[in-house]
Amino acid sequence: MTVLVLGGAGYIGSHGVDQLIEKGFDVAVVDNLQTGHKEAVAKKARFYEGDIRDKAFMASVFEKEAVEGVIHFAANSLVGESMENPLMYFNNNVYGTQVVLEMMGKYGVKLIVFSSSAATYGEPKEVPILETAETHPENPYGESKLMMESMLKWCDQAYDMKFVALRYFNVAGAKADGSIGEDHDPETHLVPIILQTALGQREKLKIFGDDYHTPDGTCIRDYVQVTDLINAHILALQYLKDGHESNIFNLGSNEGFSVKEMLEAAREVTGKEIPAEVVERRAGDPSTLVASSDKAKAILGWQPAYTSIKDIIASAWNWHESHPQGYGTPASEKE
Ligand code: UFG
Repeated sequence: MTVLVLGGAGYIGSHGVDQLIEKGFDVAVVDNLQTGHKEAVAKKARFYEGDIRDKAFMASVFEKEAVEGVIHFAANSLVGESMENPLMYFNNNVYGTQVVLEMMGKYGVKLIVFSSSAATYGEPKEVPILETAETHPENPYGESKLMMESMLKWCDQAYDMKFVALRYFNVAGAKADGSIGEDHDPETHLVPIILQTALGQREKLKIFGDDYHTPDGTCIRDYVQVTDLINAHILALQYLKDGHESNIFNLGSNEGFSVKEMLEAAREVTGKEIPAEVVERRAGDPSTLVASSDKAKAILGWQPAYTSIKDIIASAWNWHESHPQGYGTPASEKE
């Protein structure tokens, strides 16, 4: 089966490409390399550099590839940035998805697995969050993901395109062998920032607010290991191939950790002090996001292999220690 992976050079997408190749899929990748790294794309995948909003470029890819399914990771995904620049999010995320769906329609592709987000829920009324919970996004990023889900729903109704939207909670970690991992510039995510501080690349971790309505006052998030997350995509693809109806699944761990708990766990994993200070809240942060992933387990048969937060952090640490400059300069190539 030929799978077109959009955003396959990014952190999550590159783990997707890697696992699809390992499982024997034929893989083509589209990425504009705005945030992705070409070095992260598995060598057996065919790589097309370009933007999903560029219709002529996308048509040329669909002309060359006998695409049977699409996995769509290509989007901007930072809560804080989306608060400052909402139109960038609606343009890349929503319009980009419009072009993808038009191309799928034109070339008769009927299956899509879509990277959605816990940010679609906003501040939840109840945790763990079920897929049936109300969606009230608190930032343009989450709003854009909800709009993209709506587009998929209406395209299913009108054109019989089947989709699985996977609402990610907080993705962390790296492939177990440390060969690919998380490398953003600038980095804004908690786990890499903590580990860069452990490496001495940052002076201290800034904890964004300790006056939230949580036991220690810092925000609680649900962390899911990236290779487990990808495994759910492959199950979702199979689910669609088997002819099932479109569906939405949360991907998390059913367990939440505060920023302070993450810091403590990282101190234990790395054996480093990791200095930290509390600063102002960051705009757009809900206080608690914890998923119920029972639906993905029951329907897709998803079974995460990583069940301990320390193991998730250790997998990220393995990558950061061996690639202190990310894809820039692998440690193995240094003096
Ligand atoms: N945080 C800090 N200091 C930092 C970085 C983060 O205290 O230097 C805190 C944040 O305020 C937040 C938590 O750590 O409370 C996690 O922050 P991240 O930036 O790592 O992740 P987010 O929860 O903001 O967002 C991530 C993805 C989104 C996704 C969301 C779903 O970036 O795409 O998880 O839960 F929607």
